[in-house]
Amino acid sequence: MSKTKILMVCLGNICRSPAAEGVLRTKLERAGLGDRVTVDSAGTGNWHEGDAPDARMIEHAGRRGYDLSRLEARQIRFPEDFAGFDYILTMDESNLNNVRALDAKGLHHGKIKPLGSFCQIHDGREVPDPYRQNADGFEYVLDLIEDACDQLVAHLKADLT
Ligand code: 4NP
Repeated sequence: MSKTKILMVCLGNICRSPAAEGVLRTKLERAGLGDRVTVDSAGTGNWHEGDAPDARMIEHAGRRGYDLSRLEARQIRFPEDFAGFDYILTMDESNLNNVRALDAKGLHHGKIKPLGSFCQIHDGREVPDPYRQNADGFEYVLDLIEDACDQLVAHLKADLT
């Protein structure tokens, strides 16, 4: 059985998208879908290639039960990632525009959408960059990501079972 493949994308791949990767993977495992769905993350930028997630995000996510400590940043790749993933989920408007621009011919635009569009509790139009924010900024990002991933898991569950 082929796996559904989901790529989370932000700017640096050290704060938001690794958090989204870790949260979704954990929620899928809890829902019994861990072996049906592959989750990865990438940044539109390459400054943090090979780096671990930001220590603040590791700390805040860890307190909620998500282990991000072994993740490693990488830049999104065209065309491999666009062909290889079924969903490419962006964090903010800028990521969305940058990812769409990489797929200049629009061959995969149907796969690209904001992660926040799955939010039910919060206004998920954007998952804002927490890099220059305080602890509340990181907590808010995790609130949005958990909300979106709950709906995303429900959606995948309906699709796959
Ligand atoms: P992320 O946050 O896109 O959520 O990983 C950022 C991380 C690093 C930078 C910007 C945003 N940076 O400018 O280095």
